[in-house]
Amino acid sequence: MHRNKWIYSLASLMLAATLIFGACTPAAETTPKKQTLTVYSGRSEALVKPIIAEFSKSTGIKVQVRYAGTSEMAATILEEGKNSPADVFFAQDPGGLGAVESLLMPLPDSISNQVSPQFRSSNGTWVGISGRARVVVYNTQKLKESDLPDDIWDFTDPKWKGRIGWAPTNASFQAMVTAMRVLWGQEKTRQWLTGIQANNPKVYPNNTAQVNAVGAGEVDVAMPNHYYLYGILRDKGESFPARNYYPRGGGPGAVILVAGAGILETSQNKDAATRFLEFMLSRTR
Ligand SMILES: [Fe+2]
Repeated sequence: MHRNKWIYSLASLMLAATLIFGACTPAAETTPKKQTLTVYSGRSEALVKPIIAEFSKSTGIKVQVRYAGTSEMAATILEEGKNSPADVFFAQDPGGLGAVESLLMPLPDSISNQVSPQFRSSNGTWVGISGRARVVVYNTQKLKESDLPDDIWDFTDPKWKGRIGWAPTNASFQAMVTAMRVLWGQEKTRQWLTGIQANNPKVYPNNTAQVNAVGAGEVDVAMPNHYYLYGILRDKGESFPARNYYPRGGGPGAVILVAGAGILETSQNKDAATRFLEFMLSRTR
């Protein structure tokens, strides 16, 4: 899970809006230790269950995981407040972590120092664990990488009419639009959205469908996260005629969406929680 090198601007952008964490009091030393680490996970079970099992196997620490959407988990933590049984909150995006930031403890340097500053909370309460890169997927029979624009802004050009696929209801797409609003401002973001719509994009339900459509030649380009292509290449082989393009000019079309984790100030199991975060940041064996 050593993917933090991918993580950049979105975390810092979202951090810019977060509050500075005030002084906080460590839990009393006399607090009894729990036997089991409780993780509230906004990351899906299919994605993180295997690595959590690996943590338990390697440390002997039992982990009880509650899975739900990140915003639902954040709301639960806020509602439970000091009575929350959660030791660790593992969230799909920085927004979820920011929402509960006042309930998170400052992380030790042994954790924070493993993650570049732009990929973690500015007040030290959470770190990025993994990142999903936004990319442009293009059909390699129709286009070369050099044909693609520096910035996804340029897909508003009428020459892309009828050639673009997108999945506008997808959560990662919407997070990219949030990055646009931060980087470009509301008006330019609105212009991009209406400009793409004027180019009659084909609408797909999700990222996998977008990448398959590019490979099938239904559209020339689409805007998913980076890893969908790899799953399809694994299944269909290297001859599948689509590849990722990381916009050379950066910008919101090249943003990295961060998943991260923090430890609850009320945790009675902070040592185990710290080991959990250290494990999640360690290199895959
Ligand atoms: Fe995804």
